[in-house]
Amino acid sequence: MPAIVVIGGQWGDEGKGRVVDFHSQYCSVIARYSAGNNAGHTIINERGKFALHLVPAGIFRSDKTCVIGNGVVIDPAKLLDEIDMLTSRGVSISNLLISQHAHVIMPWHPIIDRAEETLKGDLAIGTTGTGTGPAFHDKVARIGIRMADLLDGDSFRWKLKNTLEYKNKVLTSLYGLPPLEYQPILDTYLAYGEKLRPYVTDTLTFVQEADARGEMILLEGAQGVLLDLDTGTYPYVTSSVPASVAAGGAIGIGLGPTSISRVVGVYKSYQTRVGNGPMPTEITSGGDMEMLREGLGGAAGTAEYGTTTGRARRVGWFDSVLAKYTARSNGVTSVALTRLDSLSAFESIKICVAYEIGDQRVTTLPATLTDAARAKPIYEELPGWQQDVTHVRHLADLPPEARQYVHRIQDLMGVPVDMISVGPERHQAIVTRDIFGGAIQS
Ligand code: GDP
Ligand code: IMO
Ligand code: MG
Repeated sequence: MPAIVVIGGQWGDEGKGRVVDFHSQYCSVIARYSAGNNAGHTIINERGKFALHLVPAGIFRSDKTCVIGNGVVIDPAKLLDEIDMLTSRGVSISNLLISQHAHVIMPWHPIIDRAEETLKGDLAIGTTGTGTGPAFHDKVARIGIRMADLLDGDSFRWKLKNTLEYKNKVLTSLYGLPPLEYQPILDTYLAYGEKLRPYVTDTLTFVQEADARGEMILLEGAQGVLLDLDTGTYPYVTSSVPASVAAGGAIGIGLGPTSISRVVGVYKSYQTRVGNGPMPTEITSGGDMEMLREGLGGAAGTAEYGTTTGRARRVGWFDSVLAKYTARSNGVTSVALTRLDSLSAFESIKICVAYEIGDQRVTTLPATLTDAARAKPIYEELPGWQQDVTHVRHLADLPPEARQYVHRIQDLMGVPVDMISVGPERHQAIVTRDIFGGAIQS
């Protein structure tokens, strides 16, 4: 059975965690393939509510293997915290594997992340400050430290000594910050290595063998593909290499592209964004903004505040220009549309179908920030349904206006909507088409 990739189709926080939690029942291996603890995936299932940053969302199913792949950057302290949190709540992590090739977030990375943001002034990205970006910079600059190094004292001592000499010059001369001390970092990180040693392994071979046996592998994306370095809203993007796009799924876990047969694009029923950068359909004030941000009319307790940083998410209407673009550039075969319930209070709902830039009608991603800033959304307005949908489990039971909204998005994107979520909990979903060859009944 081939691999399936789950990506976020917008700017992140689309609900990838809950979609992976659901689909993982049909897979043997669930693997994170990119990013670091800048990601925050919320899962609500029979065990309660969890925020995961590094551990794949398949961890709640003890008969599955969860892999943190070579494409991920790992802050060992944060990963150990997450492991402690899971075990203290009765979730076994004996089925977790960590790639020996994954890069390590070192103490200088969050410091440089924050210093860079200050130094950049108006060019600041609004990063999560987790050090994820600088860790990827070092990977590309070929001075990164990998998990295998943490487990090998000699290798780690040599790498740390040389890298720290270099980083201390950067910290003191470029940023005017105090240098970091070698010995405490050495001791702390070697201890992290010992704690993580049981999980660190050759995941490339593990995943390749699972693939060769025909097992179903779910590749869990992080972020949204509009935050991708190449195809996103550059420069207001994240730094993952391999990218968070679907194609990155193969590289970040060590499979060839031919192993991927399906791509599930997770799209929120409207848009959100955290951090800076263009967002053509953003609503910056008023009642509609409040309703979207606070999730009024939908499931309780799901207001739009970041899982990782707690920042208020920027909100706006569904942008079909961007959705069609990301579906095409990621080969999306199946859409999971989330948070339909969050639109339940609206009398009418807008969908952006094109932009007006100067005197031009444009249906593609604006190439420059100037164009993006000038892009005025052209909206279609559809009637709202104004009733609770959180209990609905079959498409036919949705109010006609809600079905019309879903169908319009499907038509505009040209990709079938196979799953609709109507609440944050595992069972609050409508599965409209079977994507696992007989496994799911709608
Ligand atoms: P991810 O990063 O893509 O996994 O998404 P996050 O977990 O960061 O953000 C999605 C938020 O929406 C979380 O608070 C989820 O609990 C919530 N959520 C997911 N699906 C639904 C849904 O269908 N309805 C509502 N109301 N909330 C949802
Ligand atoms: P999940 O996986 C939403 C955003 C940051 C910032 C930009 C760069 O939960 O969808 P970084 O710290 O990565 O250098 O910040 O990217 N960003 C996210 N926004 N969800 C995420 O992950 C994000 N990961 C990074 O807010 O604008
Ligand atoms: Mg998130």
